[in-house]
Parts: sequence; C-alpha cells; structure tokens
Amino acid sequence: EANNVHDFIIKEANYPRLCQNKKILTVNGQFPGPTITARRGDVVIVNVINQGNKNITIHWHGVDQPRNPWYDGPEFITQCPIQPGTNFTYRILLSEEEGTIWWHAHSDFDRASVHGAFVIHPKNGTYYPFKMPHEEIPIILGEWWKTDVTHLLEESKRTGGEVNLSDANIINGQPGDFYPCSQSNIFKLPVQTGKTYLLRIINAGLTNDLFYGIAGHLLTIVGTDGRYTKPFTVKHIMISPGQTMDALLEADRAINGSSNGRYYMAAHTFASNPNLTFTNSTATAILDYVDAPPAKRAGPPDFPNLPNFFDMKAATEYTAQLRSLASKDHPVDVPMKVDVPMLITIAVNVLPCASNETCEAPDNTRLAASLNNVSFQNPSIDILDAYAQSQNGVYEVNFPDKPPFFFNFTDTNVPKELEVTKVGTKVKMLNYGEVVEVVFQDTAINGAETHPMHLHGFAFYVVGRGFGNYDAKKDPATYNLIDPPYQNTVTVPKAGWTAIRWRASNPGVWFMHCHFDRHTVWGMNTVFIVRDGKKDDEKMFSRPANMPRC
Ligand code: C2O
Ligand code: CU
Repeated sequence: EANNVHDFIIKEANYPRLCQNKKILTVNGQFPGPTITARRGDVVIVNVINQGNKNITIHWHGVDQPRNPWYDGPEFITQCPIQPGTNFTYRILLSEEEGTIWWHAHSDFDRASVHGAFVIHPKNGTYYPFKMPHEEIPIILGEWWKTDVTHLLEESKRTGGEVNLSDANIINGQPGDFYPCSQSNIFKLPVQTGKTYLLRIINAGLTNDLFYGIAGHLLTIVGTDGRYTKPFTVKHIMISPGQTMDALLEADRAINGSSNGRYYMAAHTFASNPNLTFTNSTATAILDYVDAPPAKRAGPPDFPNLPNFFDMKAATEYTAQLRSLASKDHPVDVPMKVDVPMLITIAVNVLPCASNETCEAPDNTRLAASLNNVSFQNPSIDILDAYAQSQNGVYEVNFPDKPPFFFNFTDTNVPKELEVTKVGTKVKMLNYGEVVEVVFQDTAINGAETHPMHLHGFAFYVVGRGFGNYDAKKDPATYNLIDPPYQNTVTVPKAGWTAIRWRASNPGVWFMHCHFDRHTVWGMNTVFIVRDGKKDDEKMFSRPANMPRC
C-alpha cells in the first residue's frame, strides 16, 4: 500500500524578502515546502536526503504513528539527527487522521523554513461531512527572520538572553505589500464567484499566535488538527503555532454591485503578554475575483477588521467555539474515568549563570523554561533508543505528577526564588491503555502568557479550560464530556488552565512541549513513555535497521 513516496532533498536556497536576499534551508528548494496528500489510513514514505550543512530531523505533526515512534522525528527524543550527506527514510503510518495536519523539521530552529502541509482526504467511497469544495488551498502562516535562525539560536544559547523575534509574519511564504520591498512578494488566491474553497490553514510560525481573516467574507470552521468540528462561522480566527484550522470560504461577493473584486486576507500577532516585544506588523495576501470586471480589480482592496494585538477576549471566544463533530461517522470517545491525573505548571524561569559565562538575563541569569519546575534537557543519544535497549543513565523516570510547590500561580507578585528552575531529563512512564488527564496551569512567573502545548503520538480531548488557578474541587463540574474538541495542540490561556484527556493506547516514546520554539529550547518539555500492552498488536514495533547514529 506504500505507493505514496516522496523525496525530500534538504538544501539551501536563496529567497529575496524584506529588501535582502537570504539563504534558507528548504525541502527541494521550495518555501513553504511541498504538500503531501494522502487518504485516511495510507502509508506514506518520505526519503529525506540531507544536502544541507547541518543536522536535521522531520516530524509529521498530527500523525499518531501507532506503535511506530521510530519515525516520529523529534531529535534526541525518538532519533538521532540526520547528518549532512546522509539519508533517512521515514515510514509514516496514518490511522484516524482526516483533514489538515502538517510536517516540519524538529531540530534546532530549522522549522522556520522547513515545513509544509499534509492533507488527508477521506477514504475512497467516503466523503467530507460538509459540502464538497470546488478547490482546496493550503494557507500556511509563518514568520520571516532577516537573520539566520541557526545563528540566532546559537547566540541566545550563548548569552542566555531573549531570542529575537521574527521581522515579519508571512502567508504562504510571503509578507505581502505592507512590508518594504514586498510589492510583489504577496500571495494571490484567484477565486470565482459562486464557488466554495476549503482553506487548510496552518500556523507554522515559531513565536506568534495569530489572528487571521478575509475582508468581506466569513469563514466556516469545519475541522482542526486533522479532525472534524461542528461547523461554526466567524469573521476571523485565532491560531497558535502548531495548530491547523479547516475553513470553508464561499466566494459569494456580489461583484457587479458596489463591492470590490479584490479583498485582503491578513494575519497579525495576538500578543498575550504585552510586556514582551512582538512582531507588530501585518502579513497580507489577496483574494482576487478573476471574474470581476477589470475596474473592480484595479482599486485598493478592502481590508479585514482583525481584533487588536492584545485582544485576549477575541482569542478566547474563538477557541471556546471549537467542538468535535460527534456524528455517527465521526464519533467521540471521551474517557470518563481518569487513571493518571496530572497537574502541570508552565513557566518561564531563570537559571544561574555559570562562572565562565556572561549572561544577558536580569541579575546575571540565563532564561529557561519548565513544566512542573523541571527544565527539560535533551540527552546526547535519543530516549527511544535508550528505552528500547534498556540503557541506563540517559533519562530519569521521575517527572512529577504535580508542581513541587503550590502558590498563587497566576498572581503577578511571584516570590523571586520561585523563578529558579531545575534542569533534568525526566520522563513520565505510563502503562498501556491508562487514561491520562493533564491540567496545564499557566503561571505568572516572568509574565503570564498563552502556551500552545503539543503532544506527539496522540490526539487528546480538551475537556475544560478557565482563568485563574485550577480548582480540583469545582472545575471538573464544568467539563465538556459530550463533544470536546479533539486536538494535538491546545492553547493554554494566559493566566489560566486547560484540561486534556487521552488514553495511552500507543506504545512508544512521545514528546510533549510548548510549540513556541524558544520555550522548547529553554526546556518547556517532557516525554511520556507508554509501555507495551500484553497483546501482540499492543507492542511497539522493533527498531528499524536504518536509524541514524548520534
Ligand atoms: Cu509540531 Cu514536537 O512538534
Ligand atoms: Cu510556551
């Protein structure tokens, strides 16, 4: 069945953006990279041929990879990186995913330019649970840096300081005409009156939550993270790094009336932490009615009304509308009984600066980040290999089920000493089939903000959310156990909490982390190891022969 085979040649290519030429790492010279199209349940093979100048790995974001962690991709978690001049062939097992997911590099900051859409259509003979669109269009939102992201990362690791933010938001690789020298670096989507378009929207950016919308048009959301949702109609969406949204767009403007033949679509940052600097600018693209009279297509396009940069309410209201479709063909299966309850605090912290370093964070510290006050450190060989070969000393199995100390998590007067975190490679062990509930609790240590938390190997039900401190006595009564959205990346609200549930019925080693890349490199991560079950089909596949070496 493996007839879906792709060659991904990793190589540098020149792209002119923002008044300068820049070399970026690409797949096959394309930016964004090629779209993979498959059907539900397919096996997809990707040969990664590294002709670049640095180590890389690729992750299939949103693919559960049942029993198959070997091909999941995060470096030093499930594999050693693919070194320059070498190849690695990924075997991607699709199962229940249907809709939009994506793929991206999972090494250093390579994801900035090495990413693309992964579109999964219904099986032959089955159909979308909504009106058949005339056309499907990936809308890949991202960010552009003027500087080389590899240097940026090295510099921030050296100094322990903040990571510079991107210089532009982009739509399908282009900033659009609000940026200098970018008149022609703008994505144009030709549409025809009366047709329906399925926009497969992905936030591939490293740092920015985004608002996105199209002037004069509504979007009907029908899916997220490779699963269908109950349809709902909005003027704009909020999408965090790592998430996908499937949106139906009706090209229904009366082009012969007073309205225009061209409309801007735009994306700008939703900045949950006003204390941090953020990319204060707007990416544009153009929806172009090719059947509109020439005069209508010449004037300035209408501009969408997006919420302002700090509009927490608009962001939260959007997210709260996501619901699983919960139909006969796409049922939900929310676990009612929890075996492993976990409360996980999320924080940006500091670490003491070593005596031979000069550190840029306040009071001569370096920035770090943590889950339950553990700042995750990548080991030097991958955890999956160490686990499969029962090798000691690579990781510890004591990731805590709850925070080491309780305080008023969302109060801005956090005692100074709570800023400091501890470094370690700590994982959480789970037995096959156990139901896990994680309540993510944002803290105000070094400023509260949203965090897009992503889990590999599973989708999870987002059963609850709220502001302030999670209350184990009261809050579970507010859970939605009927049609909670089924996601792989959830936006934990600023100074709030989110509860997710899933059944650990996928044996293997699975990364969980914030999808803001600077938080990932600072250690806002952990790993779940799911032990094999008793039956043969509940066991992890054995180690493929061709795994790269560290
Ligand atoms: Cu989208 Cu760990 O990744
Ligand atoms: Cu984060």
